[in-house]
Amino acid sequence: ATTCDREARAILAKNDRGGYTVPTANLYPYQWNWDSVFAAIGFAEHDMDRAWTEIETLFRGQWSNGMVPHILFHQVDPGYFPGPDVWRGVGPIPSSGISQPPIAGTFVRWLLDRNPGAQPRARALFKPLMDWHRWFMTWRNEGGAIVVTHPWETGRDNCPDWDGPFAAIEPEGVEQYYRRDTTHVVEEERPRRYDYDRYLYLVKLGAECGWDEAQLKDTTPFRVADPTMTFTLLRSTRDLKAMAERFKEPVDEIDRWIAEMEDGSERLWNAEAGTYDCYDIRAGKHTGVVSNASFLSWYAGVGGDRMLEQFDRIAGLTKYYVPSTDPAHPAYEPKRYWRGPVWAMMNMLVATGLGEAGHVDRAKALTDNTRALISKNGFAEYFDPTNGAPAGGRDFTWTAAVWLAWAS
Ligand code: DGY
Repeated sequence: ATTCDREARAILAKNDRGGYTVPTANLYPYQWNWDSVFAAIGFAEHDMDRAWTEIETLFRGQWSNGMVPHILFHQVDPGYFPGPDVWRGVGPIPSSGISQPPIAGTFVRWLLDRNPGAQPRARALFKPLMDWHRWFMTWRNEGGAIVVTHPWETGRDNCPDWDGPFAAIEPEGVEQYYRRDTTHVVEEERPRRYDYDRYLYLVKLGAECGWDEAQLKDTTPFRVADPTMTFTLLRSTRDLKAMAERFKEPVDEIDRWIAEMEDGSERLWNAEAGTYDCYDIRAGKHTGVVSNASFLSWYAGVGGDRMLEQFDRIAGLTKYYVPSTDPAHPAYEPKRYWRGPVWAMMNMLVATGLGEAGHVDRAKALTDNTRALISKNGFAEYFDPTNGAPAGGRDFTWTAAVWLAWAS
């Protein structure tokens, strides 16, 4: 093992809170949904049992309607805002009221492939995974494109895709609040106050109706179909199908979901801009941003090589790629969270898709570029694409985890 491998393992150990892993101390002191799934593939490099436990703990927080929350507040920590009292989740563990990119099905299959002896553990997760997917297909399905009711749900908190939908929102009645994130990370690398006002407004709307999806569907001003959600859910559904076949479970419902989302992916194709992007359901229009999520189309198995030209163009613009926002877009900011920085775990998903589609050289070049970025600049939350400068939280779980997954 190299020094970096050892450092990555030490970061997972340090962020381990016993059965679950925090993304990083202080800034994110709870269990986050897709962060945890990445943590699991990092643990898989040296501790398979701990890898499975991570995902099992996440599913202990599943709501009775099938939703798996984006944050589980296992132990209250005053260093984070908004906490459980603001969210007022209605599940078995104090939680937020929204979900996160559903990559768990994909990586449960990934773990099972590497650890076939753990089939009973994968089987026990199969029904909860089906219930979660069914929740998306019931409540978040707009003609097969998957919508979010909060930017935090996509993980891409302040990407320019939300600028249009946010301009239409007047954040009325948000009580005075005190941000904690900017006590841990410099302001220039975090979302603006303008965005936070709207994040909290949307939390308030959800909490006030007890996170009733039927009501939110009719009333929320924020309902946006998103490539992260659509492409990760489609991909994860394909992986559920593979597991269903292995476990001799019926696949009819799964097949219907796949067909619906293959159609729905077309709703995210913005022919004019030549990219997959978001579609704002309330405004009835595309958001017109090429983002790192646009390049998850290969990972989802849709669109052939539609995104290849955009990929090659963007890969040549900055020293490190894939930037979260197209550097040619006027809203691009290389240090501000999802408005420009490179995210290693997104690169892992993009590279996986590229490789599977036969673009093996591009997949390898992207992986090598990202590994060089990490080995020179450490295990930061995200990085400035122009020079690799580390940004956001440090000693970050998912950056360490993808490093280990690539090493194993
Ligand atoms: C945050 O607090 O910034 C998180 O991204 C919310 O999930």
